[in-house]
Amino acid sequence: MQTKEITEVTEAQIAVHWQEEEYYYPSIEFIAQANMTDESIHERFSLDNFPECFKEYADLLTWDKYWHTTLDTSDAPSWKWFVGGRLNVSYNCIDRHLEKYQNKAAIIYVPEPEEETQQVLTYRELYVRVNEMAALLRDFCGLQTGDRVTIHMPMTPELPITMLACARLGLIHSVVFGGFSGKACGERIADSGSKVLVTMDSYYRNGKLLDHREKADVAVQIAANDGMEVEKVLVWQRYPGEYHSENPMVEERDFFVNDVLKNYRGARVEPVSLPAEAPLFLMYTSGTTGRPKGCQHSTGGYLAYAAGTSKYIQDIHPEDVYWCMADIGWITGHSYIVYGPLALAASSVMYEGVPTFPDAGRAWRIAERLNVNIFHTAPTTIRMLRKAGPDEPEKYNYRFKHMTTVGEPIEPEVWRWYYEVVGRGEAAIVDTWWQTETGGFLCSTMPGFQPMKPGSAGPAVPGIHPIIYDDEGNEVPTGSNVAGNICIQNPWPGAFQTIWGDRERYVKQYYERYCKNPESKDWRDWPYLTGDAAVQAPDGYYRILGRIDDVINVAGHRLGTKELESACLVVPQVAEASVVPVADDLKGKVPDIYISLKPNVEPSREVEDAVVAAIVDNIGKIARPKHVYIVPDMPKTRSGKIMRRVLASISNGTDIGDVTTLANPEIVETIRKMVQGEEEVDFFG
Ligand code: WTA
Repeated sequence: MQTKEITEVTEAQIAVHWQEEEYYYPSIEFIAQANMTDESIHERFSLDNFPECFKEYADLLTWDKYWHTTLDTSDAPSWKWFVGGRLNVSYNCIDRHLEKYQNKAAIIYVPEPEEETQQVLTYRELYVRVNEMAALLRDFCGLQTGDRVTIHMPMTPELPITMLACARLGLIHSVVFGGFSGKACGERIADSGSKVLVTMDSYYRNGKLLDHREKADVAVQIAANDGMEVEKVLVWQRYPGEYHSENPMVEERDFFVNDVLKNYRGARVEPVSLPAEAPLFLMYTSGTTGRPKGCQHSTGGYLAYAAGTSKYIQDIHPEDVYWCMADIGWITGHSYIVYGPLALAASSVMYEGVPTFPDAGRAWRIAERLNVNIFHTAPTTIRMLRKAGPDEPEKYNYRFKHMTTVGEPIEPEVWRWYYEVVGRGEAAIVDTWWQTETGGFLCSTMPGFQPMKPGSAGPAVPGIHPIIYDDEGNEVPTGSNVAGNICIQNPWPGAFQTIWGDRERYVKQYYERYCKNPESKDWRDWPYLTGDAAVQAPDGYYRILGRIDDVINVAGHRLGTKELESACLVVPQVAEASVVPVADDLKGKVPDIYISLKPNVEPSREVEDAVVAAIVDNIGKIARPKHVYIVPDMPKTRSGKIMRRVLASISNGTDIGDVTTLANPEIVETIRKMVQGEEEVDFFG
């Protein structure tokens, strides 16, 4: 790999590099039914036809008022799509399907306990429940178009119901992943300025009914410390009428949604007709600086892009049973469980719990029972399912026509198991590369006419035009297999509009690096920096190598190293902390933590445990480190900067390189011995 051009690469340097693979071709059966087999789509979406080409996606929606300007660049690089148009997302995902599909399943909900039966929400039922919830949000909470609502909920149907109720009113929802801590939720409430928090009392995870409501008290407190007073906490009940939380409800602040909803039985709320550019939601994600940032997504552009990519790349038809096993608390769940599929009148399956609960066959039993034919998950889950039960899929009678992988690079070996065993050599696979910021897919094969290549995401999807730059801003030759920073040359409708409340950071982080002219109103001058390193093979397929910034991709979820480090510093004994990604068989990457202690503090098991606890409290269990190493000092440059890269090489057992220019080169060998053996690593265990 060529690392010279990308000197600051952290993850890319330690990424797994696999060789070029052979093509796999989609089956005749798949092609025969595919939504898109017309190769000219790439021509239609070429740069010459930009931006008008995206009319094709916008026309999948129902507009209250048709738009007059496809792309307005006057406020570059905040792009405005379909200007002049008005629409409502909940209308597009529900109401317009009622005439034809009112009795068709919109959401099929599978609770984790296997003895609990599925719940099917038809489009009619979804319509009724979304309307009632919208009435509650408007009349009981007094919320108005443009207000923000934080939703901290597990995977139950009440989550998409709440989101769609917000969308009906033009409230901007900010869904926080249910597994995140109360503190993480509180920070997001404060940043978004949400007066209302919607949560749930409990949910099932790995056979246990977890108390989720307890996090709300922490969240409200943290938000208050940050100057944001939450007026109402709406608490859904996992079992209506029962309360499964140790924490008492707070008088005049907390309300059981199920109770209050009784006052809105039969209510109907006219969908608010919104400008295409009105924000639909915020999704917080990690970036280079400590604070997570709220990516703001639009109404018209986002929905058009989610619908278009769901139709042509997920190949969703209304007749399909589509199961995306992501959590709705991440962007994948927003675009490809809720908005994209429902815009197409699909039947979207939601599963509450752990894919291997109570045993390794669970996922395949669900697929068999519901007759799922489109399956969507992440490499981490595929690795987990493969490890838990490599032969399980064969025992069940299901048949997938299409499968997706998303969120991190997939090893060719794991890809082949997915293809041969899960997909029985019949299902087309798409390896979709994209981001929270991008709203929808950037790279993937078109399943109906492009061959798959294990380990490569594929070429760019229609209307996306990547370009790879080196650190000096030179274009890396196309198809040269040389690594560099992958950017997108052109705007697209799914792209986020800004960082909530921080346009400066938006411009700086995503557009400054390769901007040709900061005064320009021409989109050609504003390549979008994805923050990933990539190579392009001569056939045009891209292989994503990993992040170039301080982001660790754990099991497909983004964690900022700075967020993790500041959590460590909450422990009073800790002087310095440095977090690096270490390769992991199941999760792809996990954090390894190096800390140094304040003077006169002795290393101890207690400090290690306190660091782990601080991470779980501040961020959540998904961020749990693989190891905590207490080191006598950090390797530093002469200017005092901690050399994370050196620590990452030690953790991963890769070449450490030349360290002679460091201020304290001798420390490197001491740490290496601690970590890689020769000395007992865990000297407290
Ligand atoms: C990584 C998830 C390789 C990448 C949709 C990106 C991938 C980050 C892939 C975004 C893929 C996502 N192959 N890497 N197919 N998909 N990534 O915001 O590093 O949670 O920048 O969005 O995940 O993660 P995010």
